[in-house]
Amino acid sequence: MATSSAVKCALKNGVAVLQISSPPVNALGAAVRAGLVAGVEHAIGASATGLVVAGGGSTFPAGADITEFSKPHLPPSFAEVMAAFEDAPFPTAAAIHGTALGGGFELAMACHYRAMGERARVGLPEVHLGLLPGAGGTQRLPRLVGADAALEMMLTGAPIGAERALALGAVDVVVPEAGLEAAAVELVTTRAARRAHAVVVDGFRDAAKRAALEARAALPAPRAILRCVDAAVGSELAAGLEVEGREFQALKATPEARALQHLFFAERACAKVPGVDAKGAAPLDAVGVVGGGTMGRGIAMCFLDAGLPVTLVDVDDTAAAAAAAGIDATYRRSSAFKKGRLTEAVLAAKLEKLAVASDVAALADADLVVEAIYEDLDAKRAVFARLDGACKPTAVLASNTSTLSIDAIADAVADPTRVVGTHFFSPANVMKLLENVRGARTGDGAVAAAMALGKRLRKTTVLAGDAFGFIGNRMLEPYGRECLALLRHRDVGVSNVDAALRDFGMAMGFFAMSDLAGNDIGYAVRTSLGLTDAATRDPAVEYSADVADALVEAGRLGQKAGKGWYLYEQPRVPSPDPAVDALVSQFKDGSPSVGAEDILDRALLALVNEGFRVLEEGLALRPSDLDVVWTSGYGFPRHKGGPMQWAEERGLRECRATLERLAAERPDVPYLRPAKLLVALADADAPLADWEKYV
Ligand code: 3HC
Repeated sequence: MATSSAVKCALKNGVAVLQISSPPVNALGAAVRAGLVAGVEHAIGASATGLVVAGGGSTFPAGADITEFSKPHLPPSFAEVMAAFEDAPFPTAAAIHGTALGGGFELAMACHYRAMGERARVGLPEVHLGLLPGAGGTQRLPRLVGADAALEMMLTGAPIGAERALALGAVDVVVPEAGLEAAAVELVTTRAARRAHAVVVDGFRDAAKRAALEARAALPAPRAILRCVDAAVGSELAAGLEVEGREFQALKATPEARALQHLFFAERACAKVPGVDAKGAAPLDAVGVVGGGTMGRGIAMCFLDAGLPVTLVDVDDTAAAAAAAGIDATYRRSSAFKKGRLTEAVLAAKLEKLAVASDVAALADADLVVEAIYEDLDAKRAVFARLDGACKPTAVLASNTSTLSIDAIADAVADPTRVVGTHFFSPANVMKLLENVRGARTGDGAVAAAMALGKRLRKTTVLAGDAFGFIGNRMLEPYGRECLALLRHRDVGVSNVDAALRDFGMAMGFFAMSDLAGNDIGYAVRTSLGLTDAATRDPAVEYSADVADALVEAGRLGQKAGKGWYLYEQPRVPSPDPAVDALVSQFKDGSPSVGAEDILDRALLALVNEGFRVLEEGLALRPSDLDVVWTSGYGFPRHKGGPMQWAEERGLRECRATLERLAAERPDVPYLRPAKLLVALADADAPLADWEKYV
């Protein structure tokens, strides 16, 4: 039978078997779509009695080819592909292995039957890309599993395993992967009849659940999915497909879809470091952590969760035992443990891989050690000097620091090429982001190890250069300064600023976030830079953190003290405090009242402008890495794509013009002066993607 490079066809005992071959994930790009339609036509021409479609390599198609969404559409359309399978004159079946997602699962649903491998997963994750299932999924899934379950799958975007898929009726049989093709062939030969989808779908059975899902569906894609499922209920398939087609086209043009698709690729690009092969990194068989405080415990848990044996070293046996007990207690407090997903037996097996010690000699065999003691350069250097003597020469030595220089720490060891930064975010076992830091003398091997570590720990991993604050905290600095400066305006309080940021989509306002992190942390940094003392700071530069200094000096350290910018009568629940309003009022300078729009402009443009400086200074590999850092580590809304994507969507010329206006109003604020790179890109009207030509 005919063979295209993307879809191979073979006739086996009268049944046509189509195998898709488009690595890495068999995405349904134009060539695959054309190959599928041609495959069905060939099967018809060869008088096949049935047809099976399967994915070659590791997976059934994982969806449409996302890179095609920003380009002109090439035929055949998804609708034509799905119709070819659904309207074929013989029974069709999908043999599903790996991850049948999005358009891939929709292709399976357009077939008359589905056989699924035991380890496979199916799902419709389009909502995470700001889209809806646009190849018939919004109509065919409700017909297979009912409106309630379909809506939940499409709104959460979460894939399901074989057991659940079978129970819901999404697939017909589940078999071990080795027998998959045979099972699909059996479906088209023994059932031997085409099977049509139900004409109409039953309505929602669970009204309360629907109402709860509806309440959470604030963005364009979830709302459109709701409308499509409503269309599926009570209407014919063709009418529902028409609604879906219109809604899909409209969503493709939304800024949310652009932002989420930008992040999809950004989160994969960030793990790649030109010239460094993370896949070639030395294997990790055993790791160590120095320091059993909050960070050290969290990092040890990341290792345990990845199945890595870890030795945790603290100053003495009592501290080391307390760290082990703390780790055990944290697991027991987790919702996974309470809900039974983490059983006693699994926890015991995890903890079996944890050893504690009071001497770094216990780290002699470790392939990689993360130092996670308190932020003090001399103390960290002393630890590294001891590690230098205790660890094998090939071991990678990493520092978990958020403020100190990796180069300065590396001075303490004989071979600085093996020293790298691994900035985990707190709580380390929960937060997705890992900001690795390459010092001036860090070797490629240590960078590769740190990037491979991120992958092993399933973190979103970004590489930063070694300068104050790296990427994330460096950008946080002017953002925070601007939020503080806003408090000088009449009628602007802590709650107004935070509300504007939350309404924009930030997970937390700046002040609530500062309370969570501890207001004393920023205070300590400002003190070390001589800023908290009016006598030592530069009078020619605006200093807006005086109000934050006064807050800390009044003992309002944040959540841990029960009071900070907010009052915490219940743990973690902030409420406005008149005492803070009184404190803030002492720093008002007569500036006029400003509204939410100005608050946002000022805070976000300060953030973005610093992002351009980070790029100018070579501290990040690409603009999208900044977006990954801020969406994964600082609660920037994913549907805005990150600060740099937000700036581009708003228009770089417009960003520069607003910054110029703000800088002219406040010439003593250096961070508001438009960065050279921003000016150059705006002058040339060039996209951010061309940034390297302008640095
Ligand atoms: N289109 C284009 N490229 C894709 C892709 C897709 N749908 N899915 C994955 N890729 C690319 C990735 O960008 C990556 O490329 P790179 O190596 O150059 O960085 C490569 O394939 C491997 O992907 P991962 O690194 O993510 O590999 P994993 O093994 O970790 O994960 C996966 C595999 C679970 C399939 C994951 O890639 C995934 O979730 N993919 C996207 C699934 C999805 O969203 N499908 C819906 C698409 S929209 C749609 O179908 C619309 C339809 O309704 C009309």
